[in-house]
Amino acid sequence: MCGIVGYVGHDAVLPVLLDGLSRLEYRGYDSAGVAFIDQEQVKIRKKKGRIKNLEQALIEDGLLNRLEIHIGIGHTRWATHGAPSDENSHPHLSADGRIAVVHNGIIENYLELKRFLLDLGYEFQSETDTEVVAHLVEHHYHEHNDGDILAAVRRTIADLEGSYALGVLCADHPNQFIAARKDSPLVLGLGESCNYIASDIPAILSHTRRIVIMEDREIAQLTADAIILYDALGQIVTREPLLVTWDSEAAEKGGYEHFMMKEMHEEPKAVRDTVMPRLRENRIRFDSLNLDRAAINQLDRIRIVACGTAAHAGIVGKYIIEELCRIPVEVDVASEFRYRNPIVTDKTLTIIISQSGETLDTLAAMREAKRQGSQILAIVNVVGSSIAREADHVIYTVAGPEIAVASTKAYNTQLAALYLLAFQMAFEIGKIDAKQLEAYLTKMVDLPNLIEETLSHQDIIQRFAAEHFNAHSIFFIGRGLDFALSMEASLKLKEISYIHSEAYAGGELKHGTIALIEEGTLVVCPMTQPQLVDKMISNIREVKARGAVILGILTPECAKAAEVCDQVIELPSVDPLLAPIVAVTPTQLFAYYMTVNKGFDVDKPRNLAKSVTVE
Ligand code: F6R
Repeated sequence: MCGIVGYVGHDAVLPVLLDGLSRLEYRGYDSAGVAFIDQEQVKIRKKKGRIKNLEQALIEDGLLNRLEIHIGIGHTRWATHGAPSDENSHPHLSADGRIAVVHNGIIENYLELKRFLLDLGYEFQSETDTEVVAHLVEHHYHEHNDGDILAAVRRTIADLEGSYALGVLCADHPNQFIAARKDSPLVLGLGESCNYIASDIPAILSHTRRIVIMEDREIAQLTADAIILYDALGQIVTREPLLVTWDSEAAEKGGYEHFMMKEMHEEPKAVRDTVMPRLRENRIRFDSLNLDRAAINQLDRIRIVACGTAAHAGIVGKYIIEELCRIPVEVDVASEFRYRNPIVTDKTLTIIISQSGETLDTLAAMREAKRQGSQILAIVNVVGSSIAREADHVIYTVAGPEIAVASTKAYNTQLAALYLLAFQMAFEIGKIDAKQLEAYLTKMVDLPNLIEETLSHQDIIQRFAAEHFNAHSIFFIGRGLDFALSMEASLKLKEISYIHSEAYAGGELKHGTIALIEEGTLVVCPMTQPQLVDKMISNIREVKARGAVILGILTPECAKAAEVCDQVIELPSVDPLLAPIVAVTPTQLFAYYMTVNKGFDVDKPRNLAKSVTVE
């Protein structure tokens, strides 16, 4: 999704902006641009395509390393309003060319504002909603004619509906720029005689670790020496900066060819870091969560709300919470939950799952559940993200930064958090006793080793992918938790390899989809649930009879299914209840190698963004 970087200081600004933008590349984008002040003029350069196109343009114009250009804002765009093009790229200029704006988010009332501005005689150069903001700032700036750009931005955002993170540069103010946010992330970075804005911390982490997270409706005025932060009422806000402890290297490839491969190899550590700090004396302790027996017993249901991979983690959560706690759990994708009038009461616990903590659909769904009186428990990876800040309780996953667009280690850690939660609740309400809890915890502690062992089989998967990467369509089938896992496996494959894929419950294929199975169709079957293996064997025979080729992913307890598989990936022995957290890894590796063989960009799949901050 779109990225923003801004800098004011004494160094050449353009290398800082390009460096920041390139660190946001992983979020997905289709064009990039910068605005800066040079000889009291706002200048912009913007290019469709990769950041290197922009860099080339800056080099050709002799601008890149010019020291006297020391204030600017930059943007990577992921098209929403208007196709990817030079014109639609950000920054956008006001009509008089003296104000430049970069924007993340969506201005929902932009057509209405555009009509208002057209009536005033403004002309538009692009199809974007953002250009409206540039003209509107100019309109307010001229209308009051007081030279107060901060006030003009404040008046502008009062007119806006929707979401925005904004950077605004004005030629009359060559030593300051303005930032504002609502429902789209923006942070302030405090440097030595310089200051920064960024939509995401990795963009500026190589320059500063001192970060202030802007809250909704705040505006900041940045100069090289100071940042003044104002709340919605115009009062000055004092907020201590966070000291970011993770390294910018954590957001770099560290010798791996792709972030996705690095992040899969980080799964054992991520699970360990998520589980271990919560275990004390054979019990589970969550710092900010007090779900005691009385609180759990009064719940009428649990709702899990999330998008994409996080929603798939939620489906595993449903299976295990219902199994262990016997409390009804419903899972919704966030974009549906919000608009389908779901039944939520003050007896509902809503579990929100999000890696980024900024997914707009998820954030909006969380607010809706909260509005209806539900307690909110968020399982989030990014500390200080919007969802983490607005939830009643947070369980942080400790996956570290996830850069590849395709989520891998975040999923394992979301599962780890859900398991801990399920065990804790089941224990509190007496569904499992201390001995059973301890046995589960011992197994949880062992999970990182099992994932490690699974990763060591990557060459078998690589070979298999080399034989099958030309497949047109691949099905995943499974039963019980293996069905939940299959959904995630299928998403991972299609999002990066662009191979059509679907996941079905093993028993469901024959109700229609089996018509698509023909000679050579690849069907992948995770089998980790011994009590269901005989049923799966029958389902496999059904598709094999129509010519399917079967890849089985089997625990030793399901080994008897090997006889109906054409190829087998062996998993280590794992408690069936915990199996998805281990069995997902080979399916991620499978997606990875299929994509590498096809020659596609593993980390930055087409049309996708890492953090989806639009509806
Ligand atoms: C798929 C993927 C997406 C995200 C989804 C939610 O690999 O990454 O499906 O899981 O966009 O994102 P978060 O977890 O940041 O809310």
